[in-house]
Amino acid sequence: MISLKNKIALVIGIASDRSIATGIAKSLDKAGAKLILTYQNEKLLSRVEKTADDLSTKPVILPCDLSSDANITNLREQIERTYKNIDIIVHSAAFAQREELSGNYLENTTREGFKIAHEISSYSFSAIAKEFRAIINPEGSLITLSYIGASRVVKNYNIMGVAKASLEANVKYMAASLGEDNIRVNAISAGPIKTLAASGISGFSEILKIVSERSPLKRNISVDDVSNTALFLVSNLANGITGQTIYVDAGFNIVSV
Ligand SMILES: NC(=O)c1ccc[n+]([C@@H]2O[C@H](COP(=O)([O-])OP(=O)(O)OC[C@H]3O[C@@H](n4cnc5c(N)ncnc54)[C@H](O)[C@@H]3O)[C@@H](O)[C@H]2O)c1
Repeated sequence: MISLKNKIALVIGIASDRSIATGIAKSLDKAGAKLILTYQNEKLLSRVEKTADDLSTKPVILPCDLSSDANITNLREQIERTYKNIDIIVHSAAFAQREELSGNYLENTTREGFKIAHEISSYSFSAIAKEFRAIINPEGSLITLSYIGASRVVKNYNIMGVAKASLEANVKYMAASLGEDNIRVNAISAGPIKTLAASGISGFSEILKIVSERSPLKRNISVDDVSNTALFLVSNLANGITGQTIYVDAGFNIVSV
């Protein structure tokens, strides 16, 4: 049994009870970590409070829109005042304009859409790491969420695939920077799961069907599958793992025709 007793974890990306971040927050809580949860905007606050109600230890809840450096600094200042240092950061957030998540990639991708997708879905992970670096304890662990669309062309995933490729490269460079402080950085490449973010991708149900038919395990993955891997990655059982993208996708990534 993994114990995260005395560990402080920041979890970014709760938008509903189906969010991957919600599952990860619950598994870190179960392992004994103290949590800090963030919400993107006032509309999502009640959803985060609902997750907080399900946790065994009352978390601190703070706002953070990842598009704002001021928000990120403010988040670090508030956390530093409460806890001084932290151990774990879970970055489970991404965004692309809905109209760019369907159809022909070249025709539908704009300069502005490209910037937004990369800023929120990739850059924000390094922005958080940069801001928090000084207050992350040695043996700290950072994780983010990617998708196979980073390395293969997935119909309609379009600009988000390009942003996820950036995120996975970001993980490697961040791991090299933070390795000096004995802080690890990894990504989990999750199989498709029905969440709010996923509902923005055209034809998502078809993706779920294909994975359940063709993956070696012949099923789709659950949020629990991802949360269990997240728990392992942030624990000291994974002390030798950094800069990696670990697939939690029922093996779908190994399959060709
Ligand atoms: N659901 C899937 O099939 C799947 C598969 C692989 C990877 N992922 C990744 O998992 C992560 C979590 O997504 P999810 O599926 O749980 O969906 P979700 O909609 O529940 O979560 C996405 C989160 O991103 C946050 N976010 C977006 N823009 C933000 C901003 N400017 N500032 C702060 N937060 C912002 C939202 O508030 C939300 O909490 C994303 O990176 C997603 O790409 C999802």
